[in-house]
Amino acid sequence: MLLSMKKLGAFQIDEIYCGDALQLMKAIPSKTIDLIITDPPFAIQFKAKRNNYNRSYGNVLKGYKEIPKEQYYAFSLQWMKEAFRILKTTGSMYVFSGWTNLKDILNALDDVGFITINHIIWKYQFGVFTKRKYVTSHYHILFVVKDKKKYKFNKVEHYPEDVWIINREYWTGKLKTPTKLPLALVKKILLFSSDEGDLVFDPFLGSGTVAVAAKMLKRHFLGFEIVPEYCKFAKERVHQTKADSL
Ligand SMILES: C[S@@+](CC[C@H](N)C(=O)[O-])C[C@H]1O[C@@H](n2cnc3c(N)ncnc32)[C@H](O)[C@@H]1O
Repeated sequence: MLLSMKKLGAFQIDEIYCGDALQLMKAIPSKTIDLIITDPPFAIQFKAKRNNYNRSYGNVLKGYKEIPKEQYYAFSLQWMKEAFRILKTTGSMYVFSGWTNLKDILNALDDVGFITINHIIWKYQFGVFTKRKYVTSHYHILFVVKDKKKYKFNKVEHYPEDVWIINREYWTGKLKTPTKLPLALVKKILLFSSDEGDLVFDPFLGSGTVAVAAKMLKRHFLGFEIVPEYCKFAKERVHQTKADSL
């Protein structure tokens, strides 16, 4: 069903807002969001690692906003409570997490009342060299819902498995943000857990991948990003994206 509305409380639909998700989410009306896809800040010392993700340091936008490790559970609990409130009963949420602070994410999801449907593993390629440990080349994606009888799930594959092998995209020579999800990964989630015209939300947009993929697949979107340079980058990226460009 296509959504004809243009506004959601104080927000314009199909827009990206620059600011703190913890504050902005409070202004989203309850039970209005169909799907949340988000890759929150991880509470790792990201500055030191930026080179690993992007070979060409000069093209990486500055200012990535991190959360101190000791505040990570409280931070997660705070935004997840709002996520639970704004999701429709038919809605679902996909949260990305590395393994470092995974226990905080899992505990916060449980404590807020989300029901975990799947613990998905995203396996990607990663060409770093390690001497005395294995190279981390996976991410966790927690697929959670409010109501396990009512959530939407379009079974677009016959045997949908919970290990997804999808390569990272390298944007050689282009301006970019330090973490960026592959479009193929976000599109897969959109196809399984939303329909055309649904409203998809990402409180931590970074470079705007969730909004871009939503627009491509004719879903509505709303997103927040706290770092002004990233927010501007995401807005430009979305405006350059054509709707219905699979
Ligand atoms: C892991 S990145 C998201 C990357 C994104 N999925 C992409 O594909 O580009 C997390 C983002 O959350 C932002 N962020 C951190 N704290 C925030 C807050 N309180 N409100 C909004 N954004 C925040 C960071 O600046 C960062 O861009």
